[in-house]
Amino acid sequence: MKILVLGAGGQLGRQLCAELADLGEVTAATREGRPVDGAPDACLATADLAAPDSVLDLLDQMRPDIIANAAAYTAVDAAESDEAVAWAINAQAVGDIAAWAARHGSLVLHYSTDYVFDGNAREPYPEDAPTSPAGAYGRSKLEGEVLLASSGAHYLLFRTAWVYAPWGKNFLLTMLRLAGERDELRVVADQIGAPTSVALIAQATRVAIAAWLAALPRERQVLEGTYHVVASGQTSWHGFAQAIVDAAASAGQLARHPVVMPITTLDFPTPARRPAYSVLDNRKFQHAFGFPLPDWTEGLTQVMNELCETKHI
Ligand SMILES: NC(=O)c1ccc[n+]([C@@H]2O[C@H](COP(=O)([O-])OP(=O)(O)OC[C@H]3O[C@@H](n4cnc5c(N)ncnc54)[C@H](OP(=O)(O)O)[C@@H]3O)[C@@H](O)[C@H]2O)c1
Repeated sequence: MKILVLGAGGQLGRQLCAELADLGEVTAATREGRPVDGAPDACLATADLAAPDSVLDLLDQMRPDIIANAAAYTAVDAAESDEAVAWAINAQAVGDIAAWAARHGSLVLHYSTDYVFDGNAREPYPEDAPTSPAGAYGRSKLEGEVLLASSGAHYLLFRTAWVYAPWGKNFLLTMLRLAGERDELRVVADQIGAPTSVALIAQATRVAIAAWLAALPRERQVLEGTYHVVASGQTSWHGFAQAIVDAAASAGQLARHPVVMPITTLDFPTPARRPAYSVLDNRKFQHAFGFPLPDWTEGLTQVMNELCETKHI
């Protein structure tokens, strides 16, 4: 079985390369064809989603059975002034990949975001809740969803949220760095979501692929579609920051224990408007695949332990 991971150098892509290795031969594609940390056995390939021919050439040459697309334009604020590029990567490239997969019978794993919702809800969004993205990033990701769903390809689309890993650029690593530098951290307390580790998303992906492979064709149709793959529970960015600082302090990793001050979204203006409430109802995935999605605090504990063991904090 040939598995292509696009965006293999990103937070999730790197974890997918390691997690999917026992399902088949993994090819790790990045823009530059560079080796991926943590996936020493992966074959390497080059694919730039902003240049459609580069992806289609790779697909034609490799003919993967499974395409896991972890590549995305994820700079939420930059997308506001760079919407054409975000659209090319998050929408058009997804449409091209899906059309290729439909022609060749491959399975597409694709990832989307809580930012397809407006954030005005008061209870977790189910998969079929009306979408209404507030910004350019969310609009481009939503169009990618639409193009994939209408392509005729076999697909599993996972919306996730507040993604972090022991590597890459993310809120957790930023808070740990700032906690080492400052006596006070000011963090937004009126945006609510569920921090989700890449380990959880990658494990869920492996379980879903295995179930799809084991299913009969008519059962596959039932499994395919959109799922919310997020940790359970909810918190604010402020709550997440407090938990990160407390965990680092109790592991003896902080020289000082900074105060984490709650602020409002209005105190911290950004080019892109973010949803105030973006908790996703994750029960459909748990029921369909019999895979529990635990509370967000479990993922945090695991990542903090990993960072401590590898002496990265
Ligand atoms: N991060 C979050 O909080 C979050 C929340 C909800 C959903 N998601 C979704 O989850 C998925 C994984 O996100 P992530 O957190 O792993 O993002 P990430 O760390 O930013 O990784 C994205 C990867 O895509 C690559 N990429 C960007 N433009 C590309 C292009 N033109 N051609 C090829 N590769 C390109 C990047 O490569 P370079 O390193 O070379 O730029 C990077 O390796 C994405 O679909 C994202 O939309 C993320």
